[in-house]
Amino acid sequence: MTERTQVAIVGAGPAGLLLSHLLDRAGIASIVIDARTREEIETTIRAGILEQGTVEVLSESGASDRVLSVGHRHEGIELRFEGEGHRIDFAATVGRAVWLYPQHEVLKDLVAARLAAGQDIRFGVTADAVDDVETDRPRVLATGPDGERIEIEADVVVGADGSRGVTRQAVTGAHGGYFREYPFAWFGILCEAPPSADELIYSNSPAGFALISQRSATVQRMYFQCDPDEDPERFSERELWDMLQERVPGTTLHEGPIFQRDVLRFRSFVAHRLLRGRVVLVGDAAHTVPPTGAKGMNLAVADVVLLADALRALLLEGDDRPLEAFPERALERIWKAQHFSWWMTSMLHVVPDASDFDRRRQVGELRSVVESEHGRAYLAEAYTGWSLAR
Ligand code: DHB
Repeated sequence: MTERTQVAIVGAGPAGLLLSHLLDRAGIASIVIDARTREEIETTIRAGILEQGTVEVLSESGASDRVLSVGHRHEGIELRFEGEGHRIDFAATVGRAVWLYPQHEVLKDLVAARLAAGQDIRFGVTADAVDDVETDRPRVLATGPDGERIEIEADVVVGADGSRGVTRQAVTGAHGGYFREYPFAWFGILCEAPPSADELIYSNSPAGFALISQRSATVQRMYFQCDPDEDPERFSERELWDMLQERVPGTTLHEGPIFQRDVLRFRSFVAHRLLRGRVVLVGDAAHTVPPTGAKGMNLAVADVVLLADALRALLLEGDDRPLEAFPERALERIWKAQHFSWWMTSMLHVVPDASDFDRRRQVGELRSVVESEHGRAYLAEAYTGWSLAR
């Protein structure tokens, strides 16, 4: 049996769920499917920084106001190198801020809000293919939790199923995308300890990069640069604390039991196509950024704000021009965010074969940023996020 809806959304991550919410507010129906269970979606640990624009979209659209009460507003970050800290003051340079609020909390808020509004979300439903892509009746072919075949026909299919989903292939075909890999990764830990700093510390040291982030008064998130093939179980807790501490000279880290560890690989990717016929890609299905600077989810939100407008024009007014223009408009921000994520990454990490020249040039670059009002303002503007198309 073929079901019918206006917009079929593959993926119940931040992009898919927020899109269903914005469409619903415009009176447009959607079905959201995801291969994962609700619990998996709500507990996967991801980054924790929301741009000001992301927070405004979430709170003003009624998707999440907990971000304002439970999240922490941060008005700066610290860049540390050669053992000295340099604060980038967002409030003083660009009058904006970011919020520390973990992505899985955003997902809990979005799932709860969507279910309360009666949204059709199907957990445990795996998309197998997208068919009839270049017609005005594209179809998602999927398999349900008990192996049953599901077919959803829609006016538009949105691929919000991440970097390993099937929709990317349906849009880009054999073309793939622009791709870059990095010779390092992040070793991430979650620990039970009080915060070691009030704001985030991005630290460059001869031993490599480290990031001191927070989650709450009792739980902290920290990362240090490691080999992409590192085995997360190889180190004792003592060794992990010693490696972290060596990379943040000048701060004594508050230690505590480490209850989660993971290795995050670094990739940059932008799909060669974001739209084919009536199938469109958003979020990680369209692009991947390395984590430094926390642009991943924020970029997904920016895509969705733009796409929601384009779908309103198409489905409420019969105007397909905003959808046709979506790739070009979205890509402007995507490439700016790609650049920023690459720049923060390359400015702060130590490549395994770095020469003395490379090391000294890198410190020169860091110094050029922190000692220049304009350098600090550029970093602050990009970190807090460019304005959204609203
Ligand atoms: C976090 C992750 C990031 O990639 C980043 O740049 C800042 C914070 C985090 O998980 O807290």
